[in-house]
Amino acid sequence: MKIGVLGTGSMARVLGAAWVRAGHEVNVAGRSPDRARALADRLGGGAGSVAPEEISEGRDAVFLAVPWEAVEDVLARAGAGAGSMRGRVVVDPVNAVDHGVGVVQVDGGGSAAQRIAELAPGAHVVKAFHLFPAALWERPSPSAPPVVAMCGDDPGALDTAGVLVRDAGGVPAVLGPLSRSRQLEEVAGFAAALHLSGADPAAALPSTSGAAGKAGTS
Ligand SMILES: NC(=O)c1ccc[n+]([C@@H]2O[C@H](COP(=O)([O-])OP(=O)(O)OC[C@H]3O[C@@H](n4cnc5c(N)ncnc54)[C@H](OP(=O)(O)O)[C@@H]3O)[C@@H](O)[C@H]2O)c1
Repeated sequence: MKIGVLGTGSMARVLGAAWVRAGHEVNVAGRSPDRARALADRLGGGAGSVAPEEISEGRDAVFLAVPWEAVEDVLARAGAGAGSMRGRVVVDPVNAVDHGVGVVQVDGGGSAAQRIAELAPGAHVVKAFHLFPAALWERPSPSAPPVVAMCGDDPGALDTAGVLVRDAGGVPAVLGPLSRSRQLEEVAGFAAALHLSGADPAAALPSTSGAAGKAGTS
């Protein structure tokens, strides 16, 4: 697959590396051409760097690895408003969460993913990869692979994102259409808030495998 990675930070580095290892062709773009080139060199495996306005050209998927505050700017620079992402799969791992309190910051009740879809007309946006820390993708457990809950409207785009999840060492799980993405994004806020209170967010969810889980879901 041909993958464009927008951003040169932690998520771009670890998932870019995973996809190179899986044999995909990865190209990186960032606001600093030097940092994009340096990341491409570090990824190896024929990874290259391109200008932001070229990131979607001929790609099967674009991974949007920038902070929420930068999304509007970065998509504008990539020509998304003018339709450069039309027909492309845009994988969105963005957490629009105030990590200090665990509150989702998207105004008006929508989601970051839905806002990204507005900013990139015609793109097939898939919310994915936002819940696990970047470091997990350096060495995901093969015996207990992370389940990546995803939302999206286009079945083909969900399939493409599913391949990216599997090739990073995870298991894809489709929650529903993009209209469910706010729910998925709130889970990041839920996890951040519990973590801040000293609790393990995973332990605050009912298990579906044992008796306790059955009781919890009845
Ligand atoms: N890190 C995690 O554990 C994790 C986990 C799940 C989801 N996420 C989400 O994944 C996304 C990327 O996270 P990250 O940890 O990879 O971030 P990061 O390491 O801080 O890297 C952010 C990237 O965005 C660029 N950027 C920042 N502000 C910009 C602006 N105003 N205009 C253009 N580019 C800008 C940075 O460029 P410069 O290098 O030039 O500053 C850098 O390339 C975020 O939305 C985050 O919420 C992160």
